[in-house]
Amino acid sequence: MIDATRTLALIGSAAGGVEHIRTGLIEPAMARGWRVAVTLTPTAGAWLAASGEVDRITQVTGLPCRIEPRMPSEPSPHPPIDCFLVCPATANTVSKLALGLGDSQAMTTVVEAIGAGTAPVVVFPTVNAAHHRHPAWKSHTSTLQDAGVHLLTGDDLWQPHEPRSGLEQKIPWNLILANLDTHVRPRG
Ligand SMILES: Cc1cc2nc3c(=O)[nH]c(=O)nc-3n(C[C@H](O)[C@H](O)[C@H](O)COP(=O)(O)O)c2cc1C
Repeated sequence: MIDATRTLALIGSAAGGVEHIRTGLIEPAMARGWRVAVTLTPTAGAWLAASGEVDRITQVTGLPCRIEPRMPSEPSPHPPIDCFLVCPATANTVSKLALGLGDSQAMTTVVEAIGAGTAPVVVFPTVNAAHHRHPAWKSHTSTLQDAGVHLLTGDDLWQPHEPRSGLEQKIPWNLILANLDTHVRPRG
């Protein structure tokens, strides 16, 4: 592995594709000089624990894969962060971030990062056409953009199909990784 010169907080939520987060994003990011600190929403955490991926992520990154909040007596197990990436981001997760709801370790981490404004926050929503038409979607995404969050949207990245169609669509891991480089360049 290349020596890490920058640290990425990767927050995964329970969308299709999260099962490939290690091979699609974590390992390639590490090869590009990122140390990767992973936090999963409770539902994504349950999915990846069941498949053994939580253990594999912990082993590969050398850091605990966070799902539950720490006890008040415990120190934070993750290092200082240079960039936050929420990927994949469900409609539920995007909405909670816009409203500032820290009801899990994953949401607490990102809500605080958005308010702190000290490191870039990148969000890749994988939502369908029904989520897009929900009356709150436009205001939620506008709120996040106005706060400086980099929302990766557009047909070249993700096409919002009707529910239960477009299931073969793949997360464009390489485009997302390239976007991270525009926010935090490798040092050295
Ligand atoms: C197999 C499967 C795939 C899903 N994919 C998506 C998705 O791509 N986008 C989305 O917004 N919700 C998706 N969902 C629904 C979310 O899992 C659900 O809204 C969940 O409450 C999200 O929780 P989280 O945002 O805390 O991870 C999917 C559900 C299942 C069972």
